[in-house]
Amino acid sequence: MSEVRVFAPGSVSNIGCGYDVFGMALEGPGDVVTARLVEDGGEGVFSVSVSGDGGRVPTDPARNCAAVAAQAVLDRVGAGRGGRVGVALDVRKGLPLAAGLGGSAASAAAGAVAADALLGGGLDQTTLLECVVAGERQGSGASHIDNAAPALAGGFVLVPPGKPLRIVRLPTPVDFVAAVVRPHLEVETAKARALLGEAIALSAGIRQWGNTAGLVAGLYQEDWELLGRCIDDAVAEPVRARLVPGLEEAKRRALAAGAVGAGLSGSGPSVFAICRGRSAAREAARAIADAFRSEAGVDADVIVSPPSPTGARVLGTSASTRAATAGTGGSVGG
Ligand code: HSE
Repeated sequence: MSEVRVFAPGSVSNIGCGYDVFGMALEGPGDVVTARLVEDGGEGVFSVSVSGDGGRVPTDPARNCAAVAAQAVLDRVGAGRGGRVGVALDVRKGLPLAAGLGGSAASAAAGAVAADALLGGGLDQTTLLECVVAGERQGSGASHIDNAAPALAGGFVLVPPGKPLRIVRLPTPVDFVAAVVRPHLEVETAKARALLGEAIALSAGIRQWGNTAGLVAGLYQEDWELLGRCIDDAVAEPVRARLVPGLEEAKRRALAAGAVGAGLSGSGPSVFAICRGRSAAREAARAIADAFRSEAGVDADVIVSPPSPTGARVLGTSASTRAATAGTGGSVGG
């Protein structure tokens, strides 16, 4: 048997105005997927074990994000290059569930990269991203790419609409740091998306696309005033705010503590605040956590992180990997 172990990071998506189009990879917690080739295990991803989830993540390969993404890789690699193999996955959840930190996308990215590495690492980024999105869809019921892209590729990214899928890496000022606070609450992404409906008012559209363009300009020009005013969501957050008790006070206190802008991380309940430097981010994180304690009566965990430049990455491979995959189209170093 041969195996590959892959880590993929958590992420903050939307970043205020960029519903489904902006995402940022985080340093720190993430999910780890180990993929093993099993010679007599049949074809495809046939077995999944999960730890760190309190028994809540499905182990059925058809319903597990990492397995769906890994299977999508096997399907694309195809029989000729070794795609018709049996693969067993072990998923270690380092990210909390229903937290707005891109946990499904991290599992899917780690699953896709692990499967690809197991078979020799031949898929390009666009194809891998399609596989990650297939896995993410299993988790949230929708094909949004804004957590999948940073989980796979790292950085602060824009995923423009249209096909082929594309990840556009955006620059960030050198002291751009996010304070990310997860209150001990849960919000199901699928439910938070269902609240939004299909249409928005023209006035909200104008505010949103002005903010989205302004945020990109602010990143390129390192214009903190512009960044601060454009980290503002006219579409999703106003509707979702009722799912997260303490949100408004948390944002208010983050700004009072010196944050440049703040909002819901993805569909929440986590809250992010963009700050100038780590010490400002630590202050903002403390202020947000205090707000959740006093306003919602819940504790909170804190991450302080600039955009992580790296996304999903191979942590290790078994010694036998090279030999086991040599006849199936490639090898994995290490
Ligand atoms: N863009 C997605 C949403 C992210 O807001 O629904 C989900 O974490």
